Amino acid sequence: MKIIIEKNYSDLSKKAADIIEKEIKNKPNLILGLATGSTPVGTYKELIRRHKEEGLDFAKVTTFNLDEYLGIPHDHINSYHYFMYDNLFKHINIDEDNINIPNGNPENVEEYCKSYDEDIEKQGGIDLQILGIGENGHIAFNEPDDKLYLGTHITDLTESTIRANARFFDSIEEVPKKAITMGLGSIMKAKKILLLANGKNKANIIGKLLKDEVVSTYNPASLLLLHPDVTIILDEESASEYLK
Ligand code: GLP
Repeated sequence: MKIIIEKNYSDLSKKAADIIEKEIKNKPNLILGLATGSTPVGTYKELIRRHKEEGLDFAKVTTFNLDEYLGIPHDHINSYHYFMYDNLFKHINIDEDNINIPNGNPENVEEYCKSYDEDIEKQGGIDLQILGIGENGHIAFNEPDDKLYLGTHITDLTESTIRANARFFDSIEEVPKKAITMGLGSIMKAKKILLLANGKNKANIIGKLLKDEVVSTYNPASLLLLHPDVTIILDEESASEYLK
């Protein structure tokens, strides 16, 4: 596991964009796993800048997003579909046919979840997966529990996640209670993983993850300790407990 500590969020975002750009240049038809949340927004902004000013080319890139709220319309301002178009896709030259985001309103949930994993497999698997981390260690929407699912599945959100995500909604009551998410198995199959964390509110979980050296389903991010190619980029605030 490679740990990179940058001074601030802006430097973290540039570093993450460097890594993604290098992968796209090495393999123009990269299969890129993408995350939502506030953490990767700066990275997406930097990728958009590089596309517009330096011609970074997304024409052949295929993306798979990690998760989506269940029961929320695609065009809802808080859906992850809306988020991804708003923060990245509508600003770059990605082919719309190459964008994959879990459907928050599938007709047959079981079949749909299976087909999402099959679609990833058909593309040869994810080359580079971008991840954020929840304050409770959740990855995508794989919440701490006594068991974790391997494949894409429907999950209940924990109180902590609902509270953390309420900042994007008008009220906490509006935050969906369920989501569709790639499982830890799907994520661990990615060839490379890039985990980003910034800010004081991530310091505890990052400290626990990097200092305890323990794998637990109650800290889903800890499974990443078993992956052979993980890079973690932190800013000084999120690294503060780790460095203590
Ligand atoms: C959300 C997303 C995760 C994300 C995490 C952290 O609930 N489902 O994919 O990594 O929470 O979000 P943020 O980056 O806003 O702290």
